[in-house]
Amino acid sequence: MNTSTFDLKDKIVLVAGASAGIGEALSEQLAERGARVIAAARRTDKLDAMAKQFGDRIYPLALDVSDTASTASLIERLPEPWRDIHAAVVSAGHDAGGRAMFHEGSTDAWTDIIETNVNGTIRVCRAVIDLMRSRGSGHIVTLGSVSGIETYAGGTIYSASKFAVHAFTDSLCKDYKTEPIRVTEVLPGLTRTEFAQNRWGGDASKADSFYDAAPDTLEAGDVARTIIYALELPEHINIRQLVVTATGNK
Ligand SMILES: NC(=O)c1ccc[n+]([C@@H]2O[C@H](COP(=O)([O-])OP(=O)(O)OC[C@H]3O[C@@H](n4cnc5c(N)ncnc54)[C@H](OP(=O)(O)O)[C@@H]3O)[C@@H](O)[C@H]2O)c1
Repeated sequence: MNTSTFDLKDKIVLVAGASAGIGEALSEQLAERGARVIAAARRTDKLDAMAKQFGDRIYPLALDVSDTASTASLIERLPEPWRDIHAAVVSAGHDAGGRAMFHEGSTDAWTDIIETNVNGTIRVCRAVIDLMRSRGSGHIVTLGSVSGIETYAGGTIYSASKFAVHAFTDSLCKDYKTEPIRVTEVLPGLTRTEFAQNRWGGDASKADSFYDAAPDTLEAGDVARTIIYALELPEHINIRQLVVTATGNK
């Protein structure tokens, strides 16, 4: 039995949504472990700052997952030494303008949430799957949510988007059931990131009150750790779903 961990050193890992929160924490933890991280998001100034800190361990890549052309050209926009992507983690997602009673929601917000969380996740997976299949190895990790298995009032669109990510990832896993490609969905509970501030149009005090009112929250680094746990398991072990919450908010 192979009990050794999968060594991430020098492996290329794409993190979509690396400029903040879980994706940022994950990129840093991966770089600290010696992985080579393609840190992708729209805010390239934040990615450039990360690259400055970690040197050649981080390659910053402008990526808008809600844009088909941006995502489809992802690999061809990378320099040759960065193209052999071992793992792709899709952390790009948001609930901007989404926390509202259904009849109060804006159609633009709905479209953006679905376009980013659902279609964006699918686009990134499509961009890397051929490479993984032809190499005969790889690992795709999506960010679902506990909101993708349990709904809440005021979350019709976000929850629907995460139920879609849940179904997509589960089905994706079954598509490659017999191929040596791992597929994992990580489903975090409440995690203190830029997510809530973004949800409420940049209102930091509203976001802080929201997190402070919760009995307990995870930090971005906690979720990043669980993703690394899944990535580092020996290649014959595939975690399909990992629901992770703060101990004081189960
Ligand atoms: N925080 C929570 O409580 C929680 C709980 C469960 C699940 N999640 C999920 O975890 C994932 C990460 O969330 P987070 O909490 O880390 O939020 P965050 O701190 O707001 O970070 C979101 C990341 O997604 C990126 N992003 C958003 N739209 C994008 C787009 N169109 N193209 C590329 N990147 C995009 C952002 O980068 P740019 O703005 O620079 O593009 C940012 O890097 C999301 O899928 C979220 O739904 C979060």
